Amino acid sequence: MESTALRLGTAGEKLLFTEARTVKRFSPTPVGDDRLAGIWDLARWPPTSSNIQPLRVLFVRTAEGFGRLLPHLPERNREQARTAPVTAVLALDRDYHEPAAPHLNADEVHRLDLGRFSAALQAGYFILAVRAAGLHAGPMGGFDHDGVDREFFPDGRCTALLLVNIGHPAAENPWRERQPRLPVDRVLRWA
Ligand SMILES: Cc1cc2nc3c(=O)[nH]c(=O)nc-3n(C[C@H](O)[C@H](O)[C@H](O)COP(=O)(O)O)c2cc1C
Repeated sequence: MESTALRLGTAGEKLLFTEARTVKRFSPTPVGDDRLAGIWDLARWPPTSSNIQPLRVLFVRTAEGFGRLLPHLPERNREQARTAPVTAVLALDRDYHEPAAPHLNADEVHRLDLGRFSAALQAGYFILAVRAAGLHAGPMGGFDHDGVDREFFPDGRCTALLLVNIGHPAAENPWRERQPRLPVDRVLRWA
């Protein structure tokens, strides 16, 4: 019989998937730049379409940086980011194809479509890499995208896709009650 044991082991399974939670309130424990760079050392390896790697990452981790970011968040999400020692701005490089794939120059709609899909995959890899690095992630799609783009990417080349708060969970009320996942038979089909 085929073994169902994961190569990862139970501890890794819990760390990355089954027990990992979306953190809403972080502790003030700082996270060093080396650890943040280590997240990308992992997240850059999983695949993208034709290896285009369209994601760019801006780590906001100074008072000055948060002063620029927080005004572009709605109050609910601003409170979450305010507690985090780091917020990563995950962005799409619209010109990811330069200089390696000039054939993508002609059709901008196709290029951005391709880029957004692979950048979204990379955002998922990034969240798992945060967890693999022993940290916790709080992704947030709710923010003023145009405002963040104007503030951090004024030349128009990058466009923000997702914010990810990063750090350690607060001692009290770090996350909301777990919401159920879909029943397996609603998701899986077989052919
Ligand atoms: C793409 C994306 C966008 C999200 N946007 C927000 C947001 O704007 N505000 C928020 O409070 N949570 C946001 N979340 C958090 C999700 O609600 C949360 O990860 C999900 O409910 C699972 O929670 P759990 O990991 O604790 O089970 C977002 C998550 C993802 C992946």
